[in-house]
Amino acid sequence: MPKSSRKPKALDLFCGSGAVSLGLKQAGFDVVGAVDFDAGACRTYRENHPSVHLIESDIRSVEPNLFKDVIQGNLDLLVICAPCQPFSSQNKFKHKDDSRRNLVDESKKFITSFEPSIVFLENVPGLASTEIFSNFKKWLRSVGYSVAEPLRIDAADLGVPQRRTRMVLIATKNVPLDEAINIKTQKRINVADAIKSLPKPPIGRVSVGSDPLHYARKHSELNIERLKHIPANGGGRESLPLNLQLSCHRNTKKSSFSDTYGRMRWNDVAPTLTTGCTDITKGRYAHPEQNRAITLREAARLQSFPDTYKFLGNASQIATQIGNAVPPEMMRIIALNLKKSIESKR
Ligand SMILES: C[S@@+](CC[C@H](N)C(=O)[O-])C[C@H]1O[C@@H](n2cnc3c(N)ncnc32)[C@H](O)[C@@H]1O
Repeated sequence: MPKSSRKPKALDLFCGSGAVSLGLKQAGFDVVGAVDFDAGACRTYRENHPSVHLIESDIRSVEPNLFKDVIQGNLDLLVICAPCQPFSSQNKFKHKDDSRRNLVDESKKFITSFEPSIVFLENVPGLASTEIFSNFKKWLRSVGYSVAEPLRIDAADLGVPQRRTRMVLIATKNVPLDEAINIKTQKRINVADAIKSLPKPPIGRVSVGSDPLHYARKHSELNIERLKHIPANGGGRESLPLNLQLSCHRNTKKSSFSDTYGRMRWNDVAPTLTTGCTDITKGRYAHPEQNRAITLREAARLQSFPDTYKFLGNASQIATQIGNAVPPEMMRIIALNLKKSIESKR
C-alpha cells in the first residue's frame, strides 16, 4: 500500500468502553491498540472493536513493547483520557494524594517508545491548573514536542446534544500544530433532535425484541409525586411544594446539586451527563415531559453514540460506561483535524 493511503495509526490509553476509538475510526484512523483495567468497560470495548489489541490491565504494569507488533513502525496518534475524578469540580472529596492523579505520567513511557506525531490528552478543565499538568507540558517540550495552549472545548459546540466542557491538550512532533488545533464549531443539536423520536419506554427491563437500553427506571411513589410537580421542559425542584422537598434541600436555595429532580429542555442541549445520568437524584436527568429519568438509550444518544453501539453489563455498569465516555462525535470532529495535520506531512 503506498504510504499516503494508509490510515493513520492510533493508540487509545484509558479507552473505557471505546467511545474515543469509535470517534477515531469514524474520522479515518486505524486504532491498533488500547488499554483499560475495568473489566465491564473492556467487555463492551471488545464487543464493538474486536480487531483492536486491547490490554485489560492496570496501565502502571503495561509495557509499551506489548504494542510493538500492532504498531509496526510509526505511531501517528496517542490518546490519553486518564480518569478525571481527581481533578473534577464535581468531586467534593478529591485529594492531592489520590494515586489516580499520577496516571497522566504513565503515558510518558508510550511517548518515549513510539514518538507519536500527535499526543492528545482530554480531561476536565481542573487538570490544567495543576503542577502535574505543567510538568507534563514541560516534559513534552523537553522531548521535542510543540505544545499548544490547552483548549477549552464544549461538546455542544461540536454537534453533541450536551453541555460538556473539557480541556484538550494537543502536542505535535514533525507535523503542523496549527492545523491540528484548528477545530471548527459545528451546528448545534438539541435534546429534541436527539431523543424525541424514541417511543415511550416500558418501565423496567423487558424481554428480548425491544431496545435493551430503552426502558425507564422504576421510581418510588414519592419520586413520581415529585416529578408530577416539576413543570415540563426545563422545570426544577424549586416548584416542589414544601411537603415534597427533601429536608437537605429546604434551606439551600442554590447548591451544586440544585439541578436534582430537574427536567431537561427540548430546545436546549442536555446538561453534562455523569455516571449517575439515569438517576433524577443526581442531576437534571428527568425527561422533558414524562415522569421518569432518561433511559440508558436516551443517555447514549445524548452522548452521541449511534444506536448500533452495543453496551454490555448491568444498568449501573452501562450508565458508568456512558457517563465516563468522551462523546464520540466530539472525538470525531477533533480527530478530523488531527488527521489533516498528520496527512499534510506525508
Ligand atoms: C474518563 S474514562 C475514559 C473514557 C474513555 N476514553 C471513553 O471514551 O469511553 C477513564 C478510564 O480510565 C480507566 N482507568 C483508571 N485507572 C486506570 C489504570 N490504572 N489503568 C488502566 N485504566 C485505568 C477507567 O477504567 C476508565 O475507563
